[in-house]
Amino acid sequence: MKKIVFATNNAHKLEEVRAIAGDSFHILSLSDIDCHDDIPETADTLEGNALIKARWVRDRYGMDCFADDTGLMVDALNGEPGVYSARYAGEAHDAEANMAKLLEKMNGQTDRKAHFSTVIALCLDGEEKIFEGRVDGTIAVQRSGANGFGYDPIFVPDETGISFADMTAEAKNAISHRGRATEKLFQYLKDK
Ligand code: IMP
Repeated sequence: MKKIVFATNNAHKLEEVRAIAGDSFHILSLSDIDCHDDIPETADTLEGNALIKARWVRDRYGMDCFADDTGLMVDALNGEPGVYSARYAGEAHDAEANMAKLLEKMNGQTDRKAHFSTVIALCLDGEEKIFEGRVDGTIAVQRSGANGFGYDPIFVPDETGISFADMTAEAKNAISHRGRATEKLFQYLKDK
């Protein structure tokens, strides 16, 4: 089975991606390859940050790798929090505080349209490829649901009308930004 590194230690993401990869690939996490580096995410675009992470593993660990970067873009806030979604309320990367800040900024706002975007950068056999996935929806007025992570309790995808946190992992994967980008990635890998 072909081995490929997914440059993350996020258990939710690993589970999501392994479910899509099926039996065709052995997906290793950063800790599986003993990489405990604090990889800098200093670019101001999703693509830039995904490339930094994938190239880091390829260059220092000599392994095929893919990395993702995701942002939640809110129309009424000119695309905020965007590339800064993880640290919207500060460097603590606190999901509760991030949601509280976003709900506060959206207080009284009638245009609640938003989308999640994921960019995946792949470094494979000396080549680099980019894959993108997007899901459109709205920012809820209050939190709902206990599943998932990050902004899931306040993001309502247009397709279902209930928050990501109220959906099962399978239902979320089928329509999510990362699910869609990951499908494209594995379609490409399986065809190679
Ligand atoms: P990352 O680039 O995947 O680490 O995502 C950056 C930030 O976007 C995360 O820290 C979360 O706050 C948020 N995020 C990414 N993916 C999701 C998701 O599927 N649901 C909710 N929030 C997400």
